[in-house]
Amino acid sequence: MSDCQDITASIQSRLNTRFVGRKLHYYPQLPTTMEAARELADKGTAEGTVVIAGTQTAGKGRIGRSWLSPEGSLAMSIILKPPLKNLPQLVMIASLAVVRAIKQVAGLEAHIKWPNDVMIKGKKVCGILIENEVRGGSINFAIIGIGVNVNFNTLDFPEITDIATSLSHEAGTEISHIVLAGTLLEELERLYLEAQAGAPVHKEWQENMETLGKQIKVNIGKTVEKGKAETVAENGNLLLRRADGSLAEIVVGDVSVIKD
Ligand code: BTN
Repeated sequence: MSDCQDITASIQSRLNTRFVGRKLHYYPQLPTTMEAARELADKGTAEGTVVIAGTQTAGKGRIGRSWLSPEGSLAMSIILKPPLKNLPQLVMIASLAVVRAIKQVAGLEAHIKWPNDVMIKGKKVCGILIENEVRGGSINFAIIGIGVNVNFNTLDFPEITDIATSLSHEAGTEISHIVLAGTLLEELERLYLEAQAGAPVHKEWQENMETLGKQIKVNIGKTVEKGKAETVAENGNLLLRRADGSLAEIVVGDVSVIKD
């Protein structure tokens, strides 16, 4: 058996899911798992198909940024085909699945920074990117990309040292990629099925969000909004109370905390 088959089999043997990860493609290195997943989705692969890469050479981040995926990180993309009405919940489902998996596998408390960063003690440990293809009012497919800093020292990467951390750094011990990936996929499927059955996932998302109640600044392209992060709407939008008392509904943006 090759190393790739080994890793695929190890993850799948632990998976207790109906469809997520039943088809799993592991590669030691890829430019980005997003493109590999898109190619599979274009060919009509089954819902729940997962692509995992050991490292990425052209990892994609949100808003056209790049994403660092050195050895020791976890980079995966999951293909889902939700009804259009559940599309806004994907970001909630993905970030909550990561928070739950980190707790179960590494014993660490992580929190969500709106909309989809997962943080430990104020530093980013995971980024999530969602891409989708909607045609004629229904979803062809959505791809959830999840990148977790698992076992590497962020001090080795000066470009992220100040803003990022890793699970091994916070836990003081190495964390199994295989167990983490399996747990994450199980939690993701559980939340996805619950959301489709009508569960209010945005409530748990809200409870795990460190952004709320803080004075924040949101960069939205060239515009900047400032105010108190009040709550999140059911569709995932952030409601921000400006100093003049008016309410801004933020659909997309880059949040930084001004004051706790
Ligand atoms: C962000 O915080 O900007 C989102 C980062 C998303 C990174 C993941 S790693 C797996 C998948 N493949 C990519 O190229 N990007 C996502």
